[in-house]
Amino acid sequence: MKAVQIRAYGGQAEAVDIDDPAVGPREVLVRVSGVALNPLDLKIASGSVQGFFPVQFPYTLGTDVSGTIAEVGAEVAGWSVEDRVVARLDPTQGGAAAEFTTVPADQLAKAPASVSLPLSAGIVTAAGTAWQALTEVASLRTGQTVLVHGGAGGVGSFAVQFARDIGARVIATASGAGVDIALKLGAHEVVDYKVADFTESISGVDVVLDTVGGENEARSLEALRPGGLLVALPVPPDVERAVARGLRAEFVFHTSAAGRLAAVVRKIDDGAHILLDRMLPLTATPDAMNHLRDGKAAGKVILVADKIV
Ligand SMILES: NC(=O)c1ccc[n+]([C@@H]2O[C@H](COP(=O)([O-])OP(=O)(O)OC[C@H]3O[C@@H](n4cnc5c(N)ncnc54)[C@H](OP(=O)(O)O)[C@@H]3O)[C@@H](O)[C@H]2O)c1
Repeated sequence: MKAVQIRAYGGQAEAVDIDDPAVGPREVLVRVSGVALNPLDLKIASGSVQGFFPVQFPYTLGTDVSGTIAEVGAEVAGWSVEDRVVARLDPTQGGAAAEFTTVPADQLAKAPASVSLPLSAGIVTAAGTAWQALTEVASLRTGQTVLVHGGAGGVGSFAVQFARDIGARVIATASGAGVDIALKLGAHEVVDYKVADFTESISGVDVVLDTVGGENEARSLEALRPGGLLVALPVPPDVERAVARGLRAEFVFHTSAAGRLAAVVRKIDDGAHILLDRMLPLTATPDAMNHLRDGKAAGKVILVADKIV
């Protein structure tokens, strides 16, 4: 089968022919339909997160996958050939960017019925992380106010919708056309971070979801109410600095969980929107990665495996 691999940290992604994967007794073989790229794929490929996610080469790229089950392992119950599924693969193993991939059966969720199968891949890490951050880490409640940075980005676009659904007041940051996108997704108020300093107009929020990091993390503390919570995504936050100011700070370490994935699938079938930047064939993975690296993606970049040959 064809697969898109790198042979070293910093190496170019290339389509190669490899053997079809063998299916373990508790796994299913998935015929890949869509692979959603995330900043993590870029970090893994560059080697910048090899302390957390060491990989072996050659490494088949991709963690977020949608597809149809082509074969079911001997001990698997509850899943059948032709079922439409989504899953997050172990980042240290990768494997999504290929014609076929194997998935442990306990990591599968049914794909949403309301969107195309390739597009479904776009929910896996982005929506899963937004859900984990808001409902599990922050325990966001009706009536609270949340500031979502990057409200038109991969994670942020889902976080805006989920927070609004929870009944929170939602403030977002975005830039350019992203301002309108975040408003349409349900933000009550959006600050264009390239035009205005959010700390000048936003204060007293209960929760900040920081998808940016660095200086943005430090400045986000100014927007929180006393005792408020900073939820950090790019890197673990400076907890001591937050505590010294009477605040809290927590890191989200997104993990694969079929139950959480099933919850976000329900949100999609209930009408949540998957913000799509573009779909490209799997063979265009290097271009897709460059596009994401350049910060030009407005929403999910999805590789479509049906177009691999
Ligand atoms: N800890 C975890 O488990 C976990 C899980 C998922 C993601 N992450 C991390 O979270 C970060 C975001 O991921 P993503 O998938 O949402 O990335 P993404 O799709 O590339 O979106 C990033 C967004 O951030 C916006 N942005 C850039 N600079 C900004 C600033 N100064 N203020 C406000 N917004 C700004 C961009 O808006 P413009 O296009 O307008 O610039 C873009 O919409 C990445 O670092 C990723 O690795 C961590």
